[in-house]
Amino acid sequence: MSLMDAARAVREHAYAPYSKFKVGAALRAGSGAVYAGCNVENVAYPEGTCAEAGAIAAMIAGGDTAIAEIAVIADSPKPISPCGGCRQKIAEFAEGDVTVTLATTDGNQTETTVAALLPGSFDSDYLSRV
Ligand code: THU
Repeated sequence: MSLMDAARAVREHAYAPYSKFKVGAALRAGSGAVYAGCNVENVAYPEGTCAEAGAIAAMIAGGDTAIAEIAVIADSPKPISPCGGCRQKIAEFAEGDVTVTLATTDGNQTETTVAALLPGSFDSDYLSRV
């Protein structure tokens, strides 16, 4: 199963009764293991979590800490664009050159990188004086 197929499959489990917008994400960790996540909304809207956050949480719970590749899919008119918070979350565990594949459920797909999604990112260098 491709990474995008894993993202497509987990998207079916998304809990999105408020936005009705289901998102699936799957990542391949440095170990080769694949971790998947979907968005999980909440009646207290800000408590909802994105698909990417779910996949990252699964990766950490599984004992991996490096993202080698990530794929995200949604039923959108053009390939889903990870939200700002998810870009920062992905950057925590991925090098800038890591491929991010973004897709629509009807097969429109594009590739980018972590660095392209989050130029000038806040990283641990900024904490070096504390
Ligand atoms: N969502 C994600 O899961 N990932 C993104 O990168 C963009 C947005 C979710 C959050 C919310 O449940 C729904 O999509 C609509 O914003």
